[in-house]
Amino acid sequence: MFYPEYNKTFAMAEFQDSLAQSITSLRAKAEEAARTIATTDALEKFRIEFLARKGSVGQLFEELKSVPPDVKPKYGKLLNEFRIFVDALYQSAKTKIESTSAETDTFIDLTLPGRGLPLGTRHPITQTLDDIKSIFVSMGFGVVDGPEIEDDYHNFEALNFPPNHPARDMQDTFFLDKDVLLRTHTSPVQIRVMKERRPPLRVIMPGRVYRNEAISARSYCLFHQVEGLYVDRNVSFSELKGTLVAFARAFYGSSLKYKFRPSFFPFTEPSLEMDITCFLCSGKGCRVCKQSGWLEVLGAGMVHPNVLRNVGYDPEEFTGYAFGIGVERTTILRHNIPDIRLLFENDMRFLKQF
Ligand code: PHE
Repeated sequence: MFYPEYNKTFAMAEFQDSLAQSITSLRAKAEEAARTIATTDALEKFRIEFLARKGSVGQLFEELKSVPPDVKPKYGKLLNEFRIFVDALYQSAKTKIESTSAETDTFIDLTLPGRGLPLGTRHPITQTLDDIKSIFVSMGFGVVDGPEIEDDYHNFEALNFPPNHPARDMQDTFFLDKDVLLRTHTSPVQIRVMKERRPPLRVIMPGRVYRNEAISARSYCLFHQVEGLYVDRNVSFSELKGTLVAFARAFYGSSLKYKFRPSFFPFTEPSLEMDITCFLCSGKGCRVCKQSGWLEVLGAGMVHPNVLRNVGYDPEEFTGYAFGIGVERTTILRHNIPDIRLLFENDMRFLKQF
């Protein structure tokens, strides 16, 4: 490399040559390395490779030690400038990394409100069922469940629908077998409760029921009812009406307008239906109420003596009333929902409104 004994001029020329070469190739290497630095690890690697005391630039300073003293300052200056150049590469790579990571990883806006946890809501049918239950529970009724798959006896026969009775055609039934069916109303639970217990009996029986009907804005193949039953000595028809009015006022509000109409069910006698003012037209008459101004919300009546006999009660000793509330009907009226099918489609945009 450099031999001080030689002719000075020659030696200087040779040193200059080799130093210039080293600088040129090292400069290209450092520039290339600095261009690709993207992480703090790569930045540190660059520093160790080039700028640390034993790094490539440091090595050149080692070589400077053996340069003749009279030319040392000149080459020392040259090398110093090179080191400042490589250090500048390092600094600009460093600021680049710091600015990008500050923008993406560590920026926190402390003025933002906290993220809320998404909460579910109860289905509108469930809300109506819960409200109906709590009104009747507060009047002293208990709550009882029954099976959705029933036999002909509980769904029809014990309820005073004899075989071939025309009333059986009023309810289009899903039969699973000759004698097995999906219950078409919650009234069969009346039979089960009365057979299991003795009066006084005061229960409601909420649940799903099924009918083989054409699906439309007004009817669906499955819906819910809340059946009610009260059997004791001296239960009267006026008690039935009083209970229904108390329920309707508690549910729809005390300003509610209602009326009772005579009706027919095989398992009650006398029977009635309760109407309330149409929610859409407020009683003026419209398409929803078929121009009548009224909407039917429930059926009811005094338990038929034949039904009491079927469950082993003496109709001379006991009387009772029963009622059946349509839960979908009630929900639609309460929320002004234009189509019953919305209650079964589980569209979140609809359900989130309740
Ligand atoms: N079960 C009847 C129906 O589904 C309603 C009802 C229940 C009527 C109890 C009278 C008494 O239409």
